[in-house]
Amino acid sequence: MDAKEIDYYSLGFDFIETKEMFVSNYEDGNWDKGKLKPFGNFEISPAACVLNYGQGIFEGMKALRTRKGETVLFRPKENARRFNDSADRLLMPNYNTNDFVSAVKEVVKANEDYIPPYDSGGALYIRPLMIGTGPIVGVKPAKEYKLIIFTVPVGPYFPEGFKGIDLEITKKYTRAAPGGTGASKTCCNYAGSMLPAKETKEKGFAQVIFLDAVHMEFIDEVGTANFFAVINGTLVTPKTAGTILPGITRKSILELASKKIGMKTEERDVSYKELFEDSCTEVFCSGTAAVVTPIKSVALDDKKRIFSEGEPGEFTRKIYELLIGIQRLDAEDEFGWIEKV
Ligand code: PLP
Ligand code: COI
Repeated sequence: MDAKEIDYYSLGFDFIETKEMFVSNYEDGNWDKGKLKPFGNFEISPAACVLNYGQGIFEGMKALRTRKGETVLFRPKENARRFNDSADRLLMPNYNTNDFVSAVKEVVKANEDYIPPYDSGGALYIRPLMIGTGPIVGVKPAKEYKLIIFTVPVGPYFPEGFKGIDLEITKKYTRAAPGGTGASKTCCNYAGSMLPAKETKEKGFAQVIFLDAVHMEFIDEVGTANFFAVINGTLVTPKTAGTILPGITRKSILELASKKIGMKTEERDVSYKELFEDSCTEVFCSGTAAVVTPIKSVALDDKKRIFSEGEPGEFTRKIYELLIGIQRLDAEDEFGWIEKV
């Protein structure tokens, strides 16, 4: 789509084709240098490992336009590291972290015309993807891989935006079990989350909250974001013990809460029952796509806890403003999280 034809002020989170993608191929134990190509289809063997056995991983990042018109990335090396952690879990080759960040910058520059303006609140979403392309029939890793980085201009992930979302706790489905792939950003984790999301949306909820697969009691995360609650004035979030994605936004929020707000933070098991007690005053979720999204209400079967009717809680607003302030360079980048493109 021509960059000039896009209405950047009414974007959702839908695919829009941009101009260029970055492609690098892995063969005989090495990655080639990689290069930009016009966005488009490529051929793949029907026996490719990713098509048959789901050997694929990805990342999600954003390039933002600042008030001054600069283009910036948020903690891109963290994504590069997590990408390699996910690769390790699926026996895929690592990609040099500096080369990863350089390739991301290259593809952002090539699609600069598609970065939504500062005042639209949108972003150029960046999707690094690695797939096992080598043909395989026994269940084992491919010998050949492809890294692709493409971009999409996006608005808010949840159409409700900062007004907040209604969530349902699911006891029917789980997302990840101990020893599984929950802590990695593997494509298959998301395939399995589509049915729970569809069913809950049909009931009027924006997403599900997944519980731990062993006890069906402790909160893991929201389908595409990490979970936070303010309980007795402490910021609480489920600990990363192998079944949740260690979110980069999550890690940043924990740091902002303790260093900028002086709030006590805890990474621990969080029972869903705590959400129905008066001591729990605010809940929200976080992620690259979700940023900080307030949770208006949480339901389980016929029980419902309403946290807000439209105005997000005071802490949720504060943490959102602190985070987005740094991300868009409206505030000083005092933690060194921003990289200019
Ligand atoms: N949890 C899941 C399942 C996700 O897909 C995401 C998004 O990447 C997150 C959490 C949040 O991670 P991050 O803050 O690094 O985007
Ligand atoms: C992200 O926040 O970047 C995600 O990956 C969530 C979703 C779009 C898969």
